[in-house]
Amino acid sequence: MIILGIETSCDDTAVSLIRGTKNKLTILSHIVSSQIMTHRKYGGVVPEVAARRHVINIIPTLDSALRQAKISSDKIDVIAVTRGPGLVTSLRVGVQTAKVLAFAWRKKIIGVNHMEGHIYANWLGRHKISLPALCLIVSGGHTELILMKNHGQYKLVGQTRDDAAGEAFDKVAKLIGLKYPGGPLIQKLAKQGNANRFNFPRPMLYQKNYDFSFSGLKTAVLYLVKKEFSEKKLPLADICASFQQAVIDVLVKKTIRAAKKLNVKTIILAGGVAANDPLRQQLASAVNNELELTKYISPPLDLCTDNASMIAMAGFFHAIKKDYSDWHQLEADPNWELV
Ligand code: KG4
Ligand code: ZN
Repeated sequence: MIILGIETSCDDTAVSLIRGTKNKLTILSHIVSSQIMTHRKYGGVVPEVAARRHVINIIPTLDSALRQAKISSDKIDVIAVTRGPGLVTSLRVGVQTAKVLAFAWRKKIIGVNHMEGHIYANWLGRHKISLPALCLIVSGGHTELILMKNHGQYKLVGQTRDDAAGEAFDKVAKLIGLKYPGGPLIQKLAKQGNANRFNFPRPMLYQKNYDFSFSGLKTAVLYLVKKEFSEKKLPLADICASFQQAVIDVLVKKTIRAAKKLNVKTIILAGGVAANDPLRQQLASAVNNELELTKYISPPLDLCTDNASMIAMAGFFHAIKKDYSDWHQLEADPNWELV
């Protein structure tokens, strides 16, 4: 089965083609047209600007994806498109494009949840992941622990009560003078820093629930910067390393605790922050040391941040169940929660 994936939920215009067989999923083309340079000068994503860029980028991105895969439209079986959550004006560009293509080419269409797409980024090259799995989804808009009992069956275990993990990376980066998006830059600077220099709070670490909170951590960085370094040069590497370690400590410890309680077979990392190398490594070694029978998987680096391959892969698992959407009714839903 050949699936065309389209993703425009935020500031990346992405189109992919994948092939799904009984045994594995393969990427035929993977195009992401990034708008980072456009939004960088505003310090974050400007929704109206993002939507306008999507309108300009979507057809050239589609064209590139079809050329890279050397696939003509008649070979495509299904179109999978992100329906939500995300920025409504951005989502509409992808959804409307998918509907036009489905209508013109007479194809089946599937509206995919963006967070489900992040989870399915882990399915590349394999088919069998032992379920139930505990998914730690950490992106710019979401931080959630979701129990995946089976394909399409999810239960919310915990979530952030304020900022998402990626949002905290971006906000801290901004207040210490780094560019958007902050996550990759903080990771880079943290490499040279001392993670023990500043003892930032580990919010909600010792609470019995599986929720998170990152806004207090961001405020702690702000106080430090204003009080202790207002006139002095900021020790950027040490701040980045200490902040990053505080985020990782909370994410790893709460995930392990939830996995023990729920007795899951697999721990799945997903979302843009899953690209963070120390997070990947520390979660892997915590699973290794503390959960003998649980497997840990994380997505390939280029499938962590927003892309359309993950949407097409989630679409594949809907398509094999014939779980299609009706294109007459398919609309963007900016607040569509997976659970
Ligand atoms: O999943 P994503 O591409 O978009 C949303 O759905 O939100 O995630 C983007 C987020 C941004 O906040 C970005 O700073 C963060 O992922 N991110 C990282 C890294 N790479 C991207 N955070 C920490 N370390 C990274 N290496
Ligand atoms: Zn995302």
